[in-house]
Amino acid sequence: MFPANVYLKRRQALRSRLQGGMILFLGNDESPMNYRDNAYHFRQDSTFLYYFGINNPGLAALVDLDEGLEVVFGDEATMDDIVWTGPQPSIASLAADCGVSQVLPIKQLRPVLAGTQQQGRKIHFLPPYRGRHTLQLQDLLGLQPEEQAGAVSLPLLQAVVAQRSVKSPEEITELEKAVRLSGKMHEAVMRAARPGMTEAELHGTIQAIAAAVDSSTAYPVILSVNGQILHNHDHSNTLTEGKMVLVDAGGNSPMHYAGDLTRTFPVSHRFSAQQKEIYQIVLDAELAAIEALRPGVPYRDVHLLASRVIAEGLTGLGLMRGNPEEAVAAGAHALFFPHGLGHMMGLDVHDMENFGENHVGYTDSLKRSTQFGLNALRLGRELEAGFVLTVEPGIYFIPELIDQWQVAHKHSEFINYDRLGAYRDFGGIRIEDDYIVTETGSQLLGDPVAKTISEVEALRGEMMTA
Ligand code: GLY
Ligand code: MN
Ligand code: MN
Repeated sequence: MFPANVYLKRRQALRSRLQGGMILFLGNDESPMNYRDNAYHFRQDSTFLYYFGINNPGLAALVDLDEGLEVVFGDEATMDDIVWTGPQPSIASLAADCGVSQVLPIKQLRPVLAGTQQQGRKIHFLPPYRGRHTLQLQDLLGLQPEEQAGAVSLPLLQAVVAQRSVKSPEEITELEKAVRLSGKMHEAVMRAARPGMTEAELHGTIQAIAAAVDSSTAYPVILSVNGQILHNHDHSNTLTEGKMVLVDAGGNSPMHYAGDLTRTFPVSHRFSAQQKEIYQIVLDAELAAIEALRPGVPYRDVHLLASRVIAEGLTGLGLMRGNPEEAVAAGAHALFFPHGLGHMMGLDVHDMENFGENHVGYTDSLKRSTQFGLNALRLGRELEAGFVLTVEPGIYFIPELIDQWQVAHKHSEFINYDRLGAYRDFGGIRIEDDYIVTETGSQLLGDPVAKTISEVEALRGEMMTA
């Protein structure tokens, strides 16, 4: 945990953004995989971590906006618990660690909330993303299922998003740790990959690096020779000469902050000429985007800039045609780049996505596009100093999508379908790094990871001659 003062200040700042009433925070519970005592790896709710830092299941907390009172609710370990799990710190000591002096048993939560409601005071809560919290909120607050979504506190949600969007120095330190760990995973995989290995073996390398520092991956690892499948969690293929491996993997810091990096490298010692051409376009798009990061710039514009670099590059190769700017305006490039340039990152790899992407990445004056490709951009709003985000352009050849568009002659003024046959087995390339927006531009988080064609080939060469 951070020092208690950090959590006290965070809650104080939150209180100053809200008018009155009571804030209810629900921590996460253990979640069974196949029976109660065989649970998934425990992950605390990120907002609970942000304001209270306690990484234990079965807790809740209240912050009284009128009285200034703060209470952590939880039950002490019984002797039965201690027999199975060993001695546990008291709830009072956990609460003291985050600067809360009052604790109550969890069964007191209901009467305290009922009392607040009887006084006619507002109870602020955030939208639930776990079924148990949905039921718990309905039960605790006497809400009908159809009333719940409307009862979510928009002022609370907006205040939390505003606060968590701007990362503090101690958060940056944690994010650096997470991205450094992620970088180690990528360099290890680039060194270890050999023709004949399975994707699963390489995935094991990543998990071993996380486990060796008592950490875990921040999201399911994408590691595949089929990089064109965007969220591909299958690891059953064998690496063969001539293919590329796309690896999207990130680790957690000790305080549960995420890293999120992607690299694409050849199974062979070197990229083929065709792979090099596409790789360089993706790299140029990433570098142009990074160069454009600064406060006041809408990230949607940075996405469109990267899209233009991609369209220009593909036009140069004869895969697209016409005016690249017009092609991007029409959305034709999305055949090859169907996802967004990036997203906020913090305690969650897609930070605060549980609140709804548009609450985090868009504003009243900048609404999300409905155009294919641009509609997948999670972060469109103007950047501010302290935002941490990913920059992750890619070019993919998705046979099913190409076929669908070709049959429909979709954007045929911009796409040279005749040339795409030679790319059907190409796969996909994505390059992803994590940046903090500074007062004047941006700064890379973590250590640089081999990225240019020559850097990646040098790493692959070391392996192949070792
Ligand atoms: N790791 C998923 C993403 O890059 O958004
Ligand atoms: Mn990623
Ligand atoms: Mn990402």
